[in-house]
Amino acid sequence: MADRRPLLSGMDDDYGSYALSQKASFERTFPTVMEAALGFADEPVLRVVDQGASDGRNSHVLMRDLIALRAGRPLAYSFIDMPTNPWDVAHGRLNADPVIGPAAQVVPTPADTRAVDAGSGGHLASADDHAAAVDEALASGATTVIGMAGIPLHTGLSAPAGTVHMAITGTTMHWVEAPQDLGSARSVFPGYPDHHDEIERSAWRDAAAQQWDQLVRLRAAELVPGGWFIAALPASETPCPDRTGLYAEIARDMNAVLAEWVASGHIAQATADAVVVPVWMRTVEEIRAPFEAGGGDVDGLVIERVELFRLDNPYFDPDPAVFARDFVRSCLAWGGPLFRRAFTREGEDRAGLLLGEFLAELEARVAADPDRHRWDYLEALVVCRKRD
Ligand SMILES: C[S@@+](CC[C@H](N)C(=O)[O-])C[C@H]1O[C@@H](n2cnc3c(N)ncnc32)[C@H](O)[C@@H]1O
Repeated sequence: MADRRPLLSGMDDDYGSYALSQKASFERTFPTVMEAALGFADEPVLRVVDQGASDGRNSHVLMRDLIALRAGRPLAYSFIDMPTNPWDVAHGRLNADPVIGPAAQVVPTPADTRAVDAGSGGHLASADDHAAAVDEALASGATTVIGMAGIPLHTGLSAPAGTVHMAITGTTMHWVEAPQDLGSARSVFPGYPDHHDEIERSAWRDAAAQQWDQLVRLRAAELVPGGWFIAALPASETPCPDRTGLYAEIARDMNAVLAEWVASGHIAQATADAVVVPVWMRTVEEIRAPFEAGGGDVDGLVIERVELFRLDNPYFDPDPAVFARDFVRSCLAWGGPLFRRAFTREGEDRAGLLLGEFLAELEARVAADPDRHRWDYLEALVVCRKRD
């Protein structure tokens, strides 16, 4: 079935309002990013690509710090995301930022003939166009240039080979583009304990491994010698069948609600099967795998450290109802469009209602046992460096 489940297209337009866990996770990279930036103090232009930046809201603090660190010397900072990313929203947020807005020139400009627009704002669509637009802005005298490039990170370079000082990323590289007919029976998150189908499970595992290898290889190619790849990504402490990383508890609730709805005839099994979040929470071993396979490096890129960390739930509130409402709503930022598309299998008119009921059921479960969801965020900080 060709349209068995929706594919990754980008985040909700209002992603940033409910991205507190992603913010906390991305912030774990900042000390290392700043330290690395200091090491490039003598570079005429510091080039940073923020991979999977979404609307950029969670990057502003870092960008301000980098602008201050550069102290008037050129900085090229680029948002890289899918072509359908809310580029106009990202652009608007940059303009409204009292520090970045007056300091930065965003490319592409509306007049740039290389700009493309998939309906959500102008961006550049290739590493070469991205680099050319950034360099032209620098050559015209801009000190801080912010590039916007809609380039799927697993398919190509986001900047020309050997030009990037730092590739940084938060809560992005767990997304997996797997074949659209690959399902995840009984589990919205592939590979989690409720996922019963071993053939599917190993297909997801293979796709995630192959994509991670490709992601890392492309970053290795982008970086200058001595450049850094610094990533915060959702992770798992244990491999299958006990893979229970990020959102383990809320995923269990989602699976339970869908199973109950199927059992009572409220929705069809095919509708429940279409609710699949195409992600894979890698273990430390899986993160290290391409490097081990390469005898310690991937095309010259070496892992300096991998650390797992758990985040306290940023939506926690002493009032269980408030906690449940805000936490469940935050899941809509990444799951909303995906859940709705799956529920349209029950008819356009029912999709909105089902989404509302789904959220209400989840809220009730979270409110009934808030502590179970308190530490439901497991992440990995991955720090890699390209050999000199
Ligand atoms: C959860 S958001 C994280 C945003 C931001 N980095 C943060 O920490 O808040 C993940 C973003 O990564 C993008 N993304 C995921 N996989 C991607 C890929 N392979 N290529 C480009 N963008 C990707 C999504 O479209 C989304 O905007």
